[in-house]
Amino acid sequence: MEKTVQLYEGKAKKVFATNDENVCIVSYKDDATAFNGAKKGTIVGKGVINNRVTNHLMRMLEGQGIPTHYIKELSDRETAVKRVTIVPLEVIVRNIAAGSLSKRLGLPEGTKLAKTVLEFSYKDDALGDPMVNSYHIFAMQLATPEELKLISDYALKINEILTAYLAQFNIELVDFKLEFGKTSDGTIVLADEISPDTCRFWDSVSHEKLDKDRFRRDLGGVEDAYQEILKRLMGE
Ligand code: TMP
Repeated sequence: MEKTVQLYEGKAKKVFATNDENVCIVSYKDDATAFNGAKKGTIVGKGVINNRVTNHLMRMLEGQGIPTHYIKELSDRETAVKRVTIVPLEVIVRNIAAGSLSKRLGLPEGTKLAKTVLEFSYKDDALGDPMVNSYHIFAMQLATPEELKLISDYALKINEILTAYLAQFNIELVDFKLEFGKTSDGTIVLADEISPDTCRFWDSVSHEKLDKDRFRRDLGGVEDAYQEILKRLMGE
């Protein structure tokens, strides 16, 4: 498999076309941004860790019946994935109040939510990824009712699987963001990444933050936190 043209460069990844029209190659960068690009930095080794952690979790989810874009890890930073059209929604699942939910609803960080919360944001950097509900999604034709139902069911199922999986490594899954894509035959699959960039991972005992909040909030120990997640999941 060979890279041809670069299709896209995002804040944390580049995506390349390949000589197979149904396959892309994703390349993970060490660049980190927060607050819609307002804060910029580098997390040394992040690209390698996010590539490996994402692939590990996607393989685990595939094994549990969740269709994903994952095909094959090619190197430390690069992975072959199915070529998809990304559904322009960020799908956020929350188990414990933190971040923007705490701010919006006045719930102290760490408050266990009585029921899992599912949120959607419209993927549009210029608008700052505004939160939308199903009415907005159908009005803007971002997804059909059938697609949104499938995406919601997958997101909640992924939450159940991931929460139980991570608990054995003493990692509490506070919240996370998913993206889904549509393959050429119209199948909806989990895409993008599942990593300390896109999840809040807390140590189950100390509640220490082991994710990108260390960068967002200048808490220090950013690289160590990413490394700790890799070590707990993959023993390295
Ligand atoms: P929030 O509390 O800032 O809304 O974030 C909720 C979850 O989504 C958290 O696990 C971090 C993740 N997230 C992303 O992956 N990308 C983003 O651009 C934002 C704002 C959050």
